[in-house]
Amino acid sequence: MADLWQDAMDHAVTAARGAGRQVVREALREDRKVMTKSSSVDLVTQTDQKVEQLIIQSVKEKYPTHRFIGEESVAAGEPCVLSDEPTWIIDPIDGTTNFVHGFPFVAVSVGFSVNRQIEFGVVYSCLEDKMFTARRGRGSFCNGQPLQVSAQTDVGQSVIATEFGSNRDPEVVDGIFSSLRNVLAIPVHGVRSAGTAAINMCLVASGCVEAYYEMGMHVWDLAAASLLVTEAGGVLMDVEGGPFDLMSRRVIAANNRSIGQRIAREIRAYAPVRDDAP
Ligand code: IPD
Repeated sequence: MADLWQDAMDHAVTAARGAGRQVVREALREDRKVMTKSSSVDLVTQTDQKVEQLIIQSVKEKYPTHRFIGEESVAAGEPCVLSDEPTWIIDPIDGTTNFVHGFPFVAVSVGFSVNRQIEFGVVYSCLEDKMFTARRGRGSFCNGQPLQVSAQTDVGQSVIATEFGSNRDPEVVDGIFSSLRNVLAIPVHGVRSAGTAAINMCLVASGCVEAYYEMGMHVWDLAAASLLVTEAGGVLMDVEGGPFDLMSRRVIAANNRSIGQRIAREIRAYAPVRDDAP
């Protein structure tokens, strides 16, 4: 059967690689002017804005009727609406804090949804020069090599990824540490943070970590990499163990359901304001 969206996916791969190599990597050689958004630790740079504009412009020329959810466009006041229409969900730099500090995990993330279902996901890890791709029903790949989640079934033999996010509300921070303490004390082999949700999820897809959980990230951090996880054989769920909801800002991505559910039992859940809140 012809693949309706292959051409769009090829475009996403070219755009993400081009932006990552020519704009993000170049910018890392220069001084980066840092601005803030919702708080003093929610960072943005001109490079985030430039990459998002470049990708959106190139897509608009090819697909003028398609819609967009872009991190920096939403920050600038555009609505964050996931409809049935073909929608490009873009995080121009996932790992902006890493980018600002030169911590070497920075990704350009492009997801594409139709009827609210992710059709393809592209995550380009700019400094590692790794191109992660997934097409619905056709598997996950890194630089063209197929990916498979870990076969581990014992949570005690697992490495778990999570993040601390950018919410510094003491109650939220206490919740993060309480969950972290519970997960470590299972006990697991270790806990890791790449500093980007998309790369954490690609690590689950690659079989390097068994699960990743977080609350507070956004649809643009998750969209592309969510398909990488499921197409590599993994599962997605809510942090309380229910069905995953792309707009809820909560996720567990795991190699299998039993490890995901085990992690869910240890998380002190809270409900961030949804991405589609009016
Ligand atoms: C952030 C990263 C980080 C996660 C935050 C995200 P950004 O995305 O994915 O790992 O902890 O919740 O907001 O702002 O660098 O695109």
